[in-house]
Amino acid sequence: MNDMAPQVLISEADISKRVAELADEISADYANKTPLIMVGVLKGAFIFLADLSRRLSIPRTIEFIAVSSYETGSVQSGAVRLVMDVRGSLVDKHVLIVEDIVDTGHTLDYLIGIMKSHGPASVRTCTLLHKAESAEVDVPIDYTGFSVANEWVVGYGLDYAEKDRTLPYIGIVNPEDRA
Ligand code: PRP
Repeated sequence: MNDMAPQVLISEADISKRVAELADEISADYANKTPLIMVGVLKGAFIFLADLSRRLSIPRTIEFIAVSSYETGSVQSGAVRLVMDVRGSLVDKHVLIVEDIVDTGHTLDYLIGIMKSHGPASVRTCTLLHKAESAEVDVPIDYTGFSVANEWVVGYGLDYAEKDRTLPYIGIVNPEDRA
């Protein structure tokens, strides 16, 4: 049934509260570490980055990066390819990579390497969701919104086949219902 609404996992109110907490923590941590550049990972992080960045109380600028996973049939190989790099210089800047979800960890692992190659003063990571059970590589995550189980989650930027990205909450879908 394609029109079945995803089951609510994290409500809009709970997301908003947690985003505010993360913003307070990041603002305190970076009070003496400027300039801060937030690097959002397209597409999934666009809503989280928009909300998080607007709640910070410190100077910050925004960049975006896009990657794509190599797939063998429907199976992800773990290899990641850069589709779009940041536009501005990161030299001597404090970089915070902002992800919507860390699943196997391959994407974030690759992105940390890319960011470090730009000569920044520091690189840290922030993700709204972390699927710890699915980890295949050990990546450092400095700020985590919520830990989630190994379910297919959508909404607040996350999609299932490009659907449900703009839901205001995080929901769970059963791929069999969406076939
Ligand atoms: C998602 C998410 C992360 C990545 C995490 O992106 O936004 O970038 O997967 O997975 P990993 O930890 O297993 O590497 P996706 O490929 O769904 O693209 P999208 O953000 O454009 O939807």
